[in-house]
Amino acid sequence: MFLVEVVSEEATDLHNEVDVLFESVSVLSTSDMETDFGAHSDVDVDVELTIQSTWPTPVESMIPSTLATTAESTIHVITSLSHHKNTMATVPGSIGLPLVSDKSYTFYKDPVKFAEQNFEYYRSRTFCARFLNTPTIFIGSNALLHEVLQEKQQYMELGYKSFLEGIYGDNILFTEGEVAESLRQALSFTLDHIEFYKDIVQRYGMNFMHIPVIPHCIYKLFKQITTEICLSLFLGLDFTQERDAAETIVSLTTEHWHGIISFPVSFKLPMMSASSYKKALAAKVKLLEVIRVRRSDSKSSFFEKLHSAMSSEQISDDRIVNNHLLLFTSALVPKAIASILTSLTLELGKEDKLQVQKEVCSNSHLLDTYIMETVRLYPPFFAGRRIIKDKFDAGGYHFPEGYAVMYLTYATHRDPATFDRPDHFLPERWKDGSAIDKSGLFSFGSGSRSCLGQTLVVDIIKITTEILFSQCRVTIPDRQNLSHKWLPVSRPKCDVQVKFDRRQPQ
Ligand code: HEM
Repeated sequence: MFLVEVVSEEATDLHNEVDVLFESVSVLSTSDMETDFGAHSDVDVDVELTIQSTWPTPVESMIPSTLATTAESTIHVITSLSHHKNTMATVPGSIGLPLVSDKSYTFYKDPVKFAEQNFEYYRSRTFCARFLNTPTIFIGSNALLHEVLQEKQQYMELGYKSFLEGIYGDNILFTEGEVAESLRQALSFTLDHIEFYKDIVQRYGMNFMHIPVIPHCIYKLFKQITTEICLSLFLGLDFTQERDAAETIVSLTTEHWHGIISFPVSFKLPMMSASSYKKALAAKVKLLEVIRVRRSDSKSSFFEKLHSAMSSEQISDDRIVNNHLLLFTSALVPKAIASILTSLTLELGKEDKLQVQKEVCSNSHLLDTYIMETVRLYPPFFAGRRIIKDKFDAGGYHFPEGYAVMYLTYATHRDPATFDRPDHFLPERWKDGSAIDKSGLFSFGSGSRSCLGQTLVVDIIKITTEILFSQCRVTIPDRQNLSHKWLPVSRPKCDVQVKFDRRQPQ
């Protein structure tokens, strides 16, 4: 850490200088944090700032040249301050200058490379960079993420509002405090009481019986099944009776999805385009109309439960109920479930696992260990985001107010400090369920804002897997590119084909 002195004739100049400085470095503390610059309008003001070094860059080179050359003000590094009273380490890295230093493009292009290169460069699994034009702390340490999500949530808010609110409208993801708590209670109650989901999952899962014995693109097949399951569960749609309606809704959810990956930002990012975003907003309006009509026409017990659970004063608004139905029926959820089913099937389809395919159908605990190892190595969502509203310290680091936090689920699940042989698929690491700490898995988040659909999702995966492997022996034809991509939802890069051979009845 360094002590930097900024001296200015005018308080307004000083204010500007400090603003510029704040943009280029992380200010940990000032000599007088409470200084109200306005109150000193006609007097010289000296302020000492303790700032974060963008290690390993020397602090002098971080001071913007505009600031250093301003006639009325001076700024210089007084001393290196390793003995300073704030003993918290600063997160290594550089947030640089707005826009020009933004690393969003590099992240979206190859998120694994981005994470690994920074871990290596800073020799730390936690580093900072400018992302979505916001100073951002990236967390790849499993222990630190556990501490942040479990113990520091009160200092943060969810970080999705700026790019997802338009596409989804008001819902739990964009709320905080008491409203979020009321919504969590209402939604948990509703999701925990869906009695009929087993029948639905079984009905659509049974489609495996009718799959011709030719290779199929595994991800597309699962996406079709999970879409049918989700739209039946949450909208009461019957794919056998309402083919036209189903087709229209599926194509609307696809258009809506393209908006989720094309949110408008002030700079060009891969996968994102303004026209897709516009079309997605139009699809949202149509989907909400479908939801409104289905709610008024149907006596679905899910609609009724959701409506009555959401009748508390804070959230008694039909619009909010409909927006949550939109969230659950949008393509995001079926894609995430299909992602896990695909990764699990590709692991079980390996030659040395053909025997296990039958075992997992009758051994629920064994299947659990396979699912846990699958979501560890292949989390459907690469990362989660927070915005820090009040500064805090965690894991020996200082987390400044106004920064974003990107938690790199993928990287925390491969942290060698937590997992032995982190890149190997080893379900046996979860064998002794009670002794092994599952709190190091973040595929469904963790702490007070964790996923409310996790139990339902794991049940859907278990039922589908049991049906699939009891009906079929699954093999992966040779000579295919099995490499993986991680954004926007993790899945094989190419259309990996899988072969289903029907088992003979015993
Ligand atoms: C494989 C499927 C799914 C995955 C991987 C998943 C993952 C997640 C994750 C990681 C979070 C936390 C985000 C954060 O920490 O910022 C979350 C939150 C949430 N999930 Fe899921 N989810 C899935 C399916 C579902 C389903 C089926 C539902 C409900 C029908 C659901 C409802 C929710 C809700 C309501 C929240 C927000 C909780 C809050 O804001 O307090 N999820 N999910």
